[in-house]
Amino acid sequence: MTASTTHTVITDSASSSDQRTVGVAVVGLGGAVATTAVAGVELLRMGAGGMEGLPFAELGNSVDGLADYTSLVFGGWDLSGDSLAKAASVHGVLDRDQLGAVSSSLEAITPWAAAGSEEFCRKVTGANVVVAEGLRAQSEVIRTDLRRFREEKELDGLVVVHLASTERWPSMDEPALQTPESFEAGLDADDPAIGPAMVYAYAAIMEGAGYVNFTPSLAADIPALVTLADQRGVPVSGKDGKTGQTMLKTVLAPMFRSRALKVDGWYSTNILGNRDGQALDDPDSLASKINTKGAVLDSILGYPVEDHLVRIDYYRPRGDAKEAWDNIDVTGFLGQKMQMKVDFLARDSILAAPLIIELARLTDLAQQRSEAGIQSQLGYFFKAPMTPEGEVVENALLVQEKTLLDWMGVDGRDVARSEPADVDLTTQEARSEATAR
Ligand SMILES: NC(=O)c1ccc[n+]([C@@H]2O[C@H](COP(=O)([O-])OP(=O)(O)OC[C@H]3O[C@@H](n4cnc5c(N)ncnc54)[C@H](O)[C@@H]3O)[C@@H](O)[C@H]2O)c1
Repeated sequence: MTASTTHTVITDSASSSDQRTVGVAVVGLGGAVATTAVAGVELLRMGAGGMEGLPFAELGNSVDGLADYTSLVFGGWDLSGDSLAKAASVHGVLDRDQLGAVSSSLEAITPWAAAGSEEFCRKVTGANVVVAEGLRAQSEVIRTDLRRFREEKELDGLVVVHLASTERWPSMDEPALQTPESFEAGLDADDPAIGPAMVYAYAAIMEGAGYVNFTPSLAADIPALVTLADQRGVPVSGKDGKTGQTMLKTVLAPMFRSRALKVDGWYSTNILGNRDGQALDDPDSLASKINTKGAVLDSILGYPVEDHLVRIDYYRPRGDAKEAWDNIDVTGFLGQKMQMKVDFLARDSILAAPLIIELARLTDLAQQRSEAGIQSQLGYFFKAPMTPEGEVVENALLVQEKTLLDWMGVDGRDVARSEPADVDLTTQEARSEATAR
């Protein structure tokens, strides 16, 4: 969607959302994406930030109940107890002026003690940990944090967003992960199949907070927590934000399919040097990411691409400025071979943070609409969208966008059709003539 895209809004009643205060409790609050999201909202509040990168900014307050960007207040957990000002300066995503403008607000936010496990994420550790014996006690501390946050900030809505370092996947067949009852028993028995991401998701669902998993880790997608979210009427979505290379893939693949160009192979490689890259330097965490990145192609194209390879390398000099490079081999008419190369020099957290902000607003909206369980309309944001059993997983970005706009009550028929640019042709002609001369 471009800035010039037209959305026809079905409901034009003035939003009552400006009175809402929506709490966003972030797991991994001191991370690069989280600190960029917090700083971004603060800059918007000060009138100092642009709206680029926020897919639904142009809707203004035309969607009933959709909270304003500036109504979001942040809190959350991190293994590091550093203030967000210190964390943001280490991540180096914001420029000096931006950092200076928000430093006093970010200085005032320090993460709550976290529930971590080196069994699930070996490369990222920290001292700011919950002092509680066992998984059950940890879940109680997290639930207490959420209740306190709700009360202290007098929240109208509460959303938990998972943005912590990527964990390894346990087997989905583990008995403790199957039903709410077996999961409860697993918490009491400290079952090794239950990872930190699941404990946070469980606490969110039990406290009636909408839940979003932006990471590749297994969390609310285990059967036990899907059922629990349904039972308790809590909206959940995930997983793994679709921000860069996979976003491109889910735009290009429908194009190849539409023109009947056969994709013979797709080689994707990434280099990144931020702490996310460091977490992915562990083979078990990396496997989780490759799982979520690998799924999209075959479902869009309708046939398996056997030579679909995805590589991710931790390369420190790049910091948050990730490079994603794709080589695509295709066969066209009369069996003739072609190649396409794409090189995306991206900014990881600059792409991801606005999506977090939109997800918080939309999850709050889902909650106001009493939507329970898996929110497949939010698949637009994810590499591996959570989808209710029996529903086909949609990966094509523009189809996902239409589904979401329909759900919001926005007439999406004009989506992807830009307004004709207001070009002065006489001036252009004169310029071309002058150049020709
Ligand atoms: N474009 C993107 O940046 C993008 C896209 C898709 C997914 N993601 C995912 O989002 C997550 C965050 O990315 P990032 O670049 O901000 O990473 P980051 O390493 O900068 O931040 C992660 C934070 O989580 C904290 N943490 C780790 N385990 C924790 C736990 N158990 N409880 C609380 N905090 C914990 C770490 O201390 C760290 O501050 C990663 O899992 C990443 O894979 C990012």
